[in-house]
Amino acid sequence: MVDKIDNNYKNKDILSLNQFDTPSLDTLFQLTTEIKKNKDPKDLLKNLEGKVVTLLFYEPSSRTRGSFDAAAQRMGARTLVINVEASSVAKGETLEDTIMTFQNYSDAIVIRHKDVGTAEKAADTTSIPIFNAGDGVGEHPTQALLDMFTIFEKKQTLSGLTGVFGGDMKHGRTVHSLLKGLALYPGNQVYLLSPIQLRLDETLKSDLTKKGLKIIELERVEDIPTSATFWYWTRVQKERFEDIEEYEKIKHAFVVTKELVKKYAAKDTILMHPLPRVGEITVEVDKDPRAVYLTDQMKNGMYIRMALLKLVLNH
Ligand code: NCD
Repeated sequence: MVDKIDNNYKNKDILSLNQFDTPSLDTLFQLTTEIKKNKDPKDLLKNLEGKVVTLLFYEPSSRTRGSFDAAAQRMGARTLVINVEASSVAKGETLEDTIMTFQNYSDAIVIRHKDVGTAEKAADTTSIPIFNAGDGVGEHPTQALLDMFTIFEKKQTLSGLTGVFGGDMKHGRTVHSLLKGLALYPGNQVYLLSPIQLRLDETLKSDLTKKGLKIIELERVEDIPTSATFWYWTRVQKERFEDIEEYEKIKHAFVVTKELVKKYAAKDTILMHPLPRVGEITVEVDKDPRAVYLTDQMKNGMYIRMALLKLVLNH
């Protein structure tokens, strides 16, 4: 069961952007801003003192795992980091049994898995909160929350935005969650630039359109609008391809270079990427003051997770 947040995060699972509305996001962003302003890290420790958070990652992760771990610790919790390959999962243990195990040791579980719906399945198995840190080609809600917070911080609004998404719309779970988030606010339009094979799933596209998000699909860089509020580039998701030759052919269909930015970005377009990148943004772009993927966007990942953990667990 996917419970709506309804501006009350206490003990809720964080599984999908479908759970959110704008008042719930206002609360989260306000707390994130407060936490970010706090100058004395010791002040924050009492928030989750005595709590333990399990990090259960069946797929590779640097930022999501690292920032959840840092976030939990900065709020005073301890973390139980499970090395899945060296756990009983390698002996064939079911997801349900693994979840029931760690519910005995901890107050929340952060889970990443290759299969869509795994976080929801975990949530159905236990009464402790589950945080979806990525379920296959499904969703990655906490990434979308940090992405939205980053845009909000820069622009002071999440309405009336023009976004350009580049890369893998089909498999990109961060894209799916972010589009759902943008659909909660009025007047947003997004241009989705991808090879035809990597277009957004039609059902998701029509759901988002019904909610009021304007979606324009592009196949050529020449059609990128020059007035975007933000660009959100993504990696073509190699691990989701059955045919690796197919991946090789399209992996660098669209690369952000200095020239591309110069030609198509506005002077205040925010340049975003959830990372990791594997060649689809050249390193020369990193120095551009509009690029936030290695700085503000990444750092906000920790702050948004600090706020989320507090809202869900501190009571
Ligand atoms: C993303 C993911 O795992 O979906 N990474 C992240 O958490 N920032 C994006 C990706 O792997 O391409």
